[in-house]
Amino acid sequence: MNTAGSYRNLPSLAGLCSIADAMKPGLSVEQCVTRLKRYHYAFKRLHQIFTARITAEPIYELKMGFSHHAHLCAEHVTAFRKRVGEMREPPLGLEETPHAALEIFFDEILAAPGTEELVLGLYEKALPALKAALEKHLAETNRLVDAPSVRLCRFALLELDDMLQFGAAAIGSLITEEWQGRAAEWLALLDDCLTAAGALDGTANLVEQSFAGGPVSAGGTPAPQRLNRHYSGQPYKYDPLPRRDERFPDPYNMGVNAEVFLYDPNLPAQAKTLMMFYKRLREVDVPEMMASIITETADKPWGYYRDMTRQLWDEARHAMMGEVGFANLEIDWPKQVMVNFTWSMALNTQLKPIERHAVLYFIEQGLMPKNGKRFEWEVGRASGNPLSALFQDYDWADEVLHAKIGRDWYLKDFQNAQQAVQYGDRCWSRVLVDWASWRAQGLTQHRNWWPELYRAACRHWQIEPDPKVLAYSTTYEAVRADLKAVSGSA
Ligand SMILES: [Fe+2]
Ligand SMILES: [Fe+2]
Repeated sequence: MNTAGSYRNLPSLAGLCSIADAMKPGLSVEQCVTRLKRYHYAFKRLHQIFTARITAEPIYELKMGFSHHAHLCAEHVTAFRKRVGEMREPPLGLEETPHAALEIFFDEILAAPGTEELVLGLYEKALPALKAALEKHLAETNRLVDAPSVRLCRFALLELDDMLQFGAAAIGSLITEEWQGRAAEWLALLDDCLTAAGALDGTANLVEQSFAGGPVSAGGTPAPQRLNRHYSGQPYKYDPLPRRDERFPDPYNMGVNAEVFLYDPNLPAQAKTLMMFYKRLREVDVPEMMASIITETADKPWGYYRDMTRQLWDEARHAMMGEVGFANLEIDWPKQVMVNFTWSMALNTQLKPIERHAVLYFIEQGLMPKNGKRFEWEVGRASGNPLSALFQDYDWADEVLHAKIGRDWYLKDFQNAQQAVQYGDRCWSRVLVDWASWRAQGLTQHRNWWPELYRAACRHWQIEPDPKVLAYSTTYEAVRADLKAVSGSA
């Protein structure tokens, strides 16, 4: 072959690939976009599953992992939507199901009855199938003509590998051989779905078409009608009840009022960092609640789901900041900090999705003035605990973004900002947090766990406990009404 060669052997083609590779037929635009729509569909369904399963999943680490993975999937959905829109494709057909068997595949995982099947379906079937499809795209497409898709596939693979690593560790920790055996039949059904769909990308059993070739069909056997749904025979029903693992032994405990302590000018900043770590860790209830809004709100533009999921992930990160704050002080938080789920439980069971969003907006607007996130950052800075200051610095920045997300997706349904805030206030006032009846029912004693936590921290700090701080015993019983705006999570 007689080619011109590059100038002084510089990389040709902007480093995309060799000239010889760029001569390969690769995928036509039609073939490419057909595959891209399947990746888009897969990421969209994965986003839906990760989100929907956060609330009722008891294991804290999985809640956090699902929150992260929901966010990553939403970002890739956004990228692939945009790319499909660049491919001469209107109408885009992005809300259509590319193949009936793929729909069954994801419906089954969404409806998986327990943590074990869910984890297996996601990390042993769905994510590997998507990874294989993206790798195949990179191997088969022409990297010069299809460079924008190549770039998206490479980014997606990077994060898919992270997710798979998390998933492999989760399977290693949670799935016994007995579970593998019990789930075998169902996992085989998932395989059958993929076979019927011609693999996730629809290319199995197809002879690869050249550029001039005919259209790509879905192809594959057996026919979807022969796939018997196992768990997804009935339409999926979202479970709004938050659940926690055994490290949350007192989930109705509202015995320590963090805000009254935090805003008391007579109490020391160092001790206040404990209350802020508690407030952060307690934010595990925000993903639990936001998952319900996202899952139960249909027919919004995609940007709504993407932005709300970003916020959901930020709130999960805030919870993990609290976890790290306690770890840094060598405090065994499951024993010494009673992290409740009363906020997410009350909102998820008592309010409609739009009302929950209204409460979130109302609380977040209350965090913007002097008393809110800036104050927490200042306390962190004054405390001498650099980690607390760092966490509050980013928590504040995230909150500014959340306020914008609220303006973009909640506020615009109202005539003016005041109306939107008042509606949120009304919804929040309607929520019944039944402090006394939970105690009467024996669900909690609202035990004051503060003195023990404070003593443990003082041991770490090597200081004598301050009697005034040690004596703190304000609960959420009497003062809740006055502090309703700040006692919620956000
Ligand atoms: Fe937050
Ligand atoms: Fe927030």
